[in-house]
Amino acid sequence: MTTPEHAGTALPVNLHAYEAVAHERLPRMVYDYYAGGANDEILLRESRTAWDDVRIRYRVLRDVSQRDLATTINGHRLEWPVMVAPMAFQQMATPEGEVATARATAAAGSGMILSTLSNRTIEDVRAASNGLVWFQLYIYRDRGVTAELVRRAERAGCTALVLTVDTPILGRRERDLLNRFHVPSEFAAPNLGVDMRATLGAQENMSSALAQFILHHWDAGIAWKDLAWLRSITSLPIYVKGVVRDDDAVMALEHGATGIIVSNHGGRQLDTAVPTARALGEVADAVQGRAEVLVDGGIRRGTDVLKALALGANAVLLGRPILWGLAANGEAGARHVLQLLRDEVDLAFALAGVRTPAEATRDLIAP
Ligand code: FNR
Ligand code: LAC
Repeated sequence: MTTPEHAGTALPVNLHAYEAVAHERLPRMVYDYYAGGANDEILLRESRTAWDDVRIRYRVLRDVSQRDLATTINGHRLEWPVMVAPMAFQQMATPEGEVATARATAAAGSGMILSTLSNRTIEDVRAASNGLVWFQLYIYRDRGVTAELVRRAERAGCTALVLTVDTPILGRRERDLLNRFHVPSEFAAPNLGVDMRATLGAQENMSSALAQFILHHWDAGIAWKDLAWLRSITSLPIYVKGVVRDDDAVMALEHGATGIIVSNHGGRQLDTAVPTARALGEVADAVQGRAEVLVDGGIRRGTDVLKALALGANAVLLGRPILWGLAANGEAGARHVLQLLRDEVDLAFALAGVRTPAEATRDLIAP
């Protein structure tokens, strides 16, 4: 029988329960920044429910006594087909910040994408583990700054770049406007120049400092030619993140992308955009196996991962639940979040009659 004491110390049972813990622990401004979405948060909600709306045509009598979740992404073996999405400012969740995420993902046989807007340096994060670390890039108005970030990622040993293309300007996040979201001065932004960092601090007017920062320093003019430019200055593979259409996926490949990440930034940019669960099939069909396809947005259950693979993804990215794990219990919390999801993926495979990621094919999806 569960005594009240036991109930009080029990680990969260699933990823949703981690959010509840983080909600209690984090300052309001931080929780809202992490959790929130754009405008009416319709896409934020649908990012989840769209996965729920996909139904699984499971197979029976396939001898699922042996299962192997391992897969290869960009030539690197992952123990299971999940990586951690790039997310800004992780020290607001735990003192070690992105270093904790790097260690947790490596320990969990997963991989990590480090945001440009991290609180720890590229070098520190890369050195924190032997796991897979990719670097996520935004294109700054100052192409010299942009190119220097690429060189640092290369030198540090990141094995791919992720170019995020759904954020020419920051979405309208009303929670952040109301909270006057800013990055508290105790947290560094060491990948940015000092003058850039200054604009992330508290501002006088009632507005989000992050939105102002992006308006000033990122280039809303970026276009396909800039992907070709990035391709020309680095030999690292480039995954283009933020695509939800077949024609854009094809354009990305034509301009030198190595892979496509189907994403709408977790509902933080264009509200009422198409949920990724509904965009993924179209993109995978257009790519036709010529490149790797990854997907993120609202993935919270092992069944969501199975559905994503069946719809054509090679792997999925997990976003906010990692922040909830970090807030609840630092590196160990993030590790437990990954463990919970991995166990769920394994169970979903077994119950669907699937033994390996390669066996997760489109026929598993009910029309
Ligand atoms: C993000 N995301 C993001 N994406 C990116 O390319 N660069 C970034 O710096 C950030 N920063 C960021 C901060 C926070 C707090 C969140 C929640 C998200 C988007 C992220 O990579 C991913 O696309 C979504 O978060 C995935 O959706 P879920 O799993 O959070 O629903
Ligand atoms: C965000 C940006 C920084 O979603 O990517 O907050």
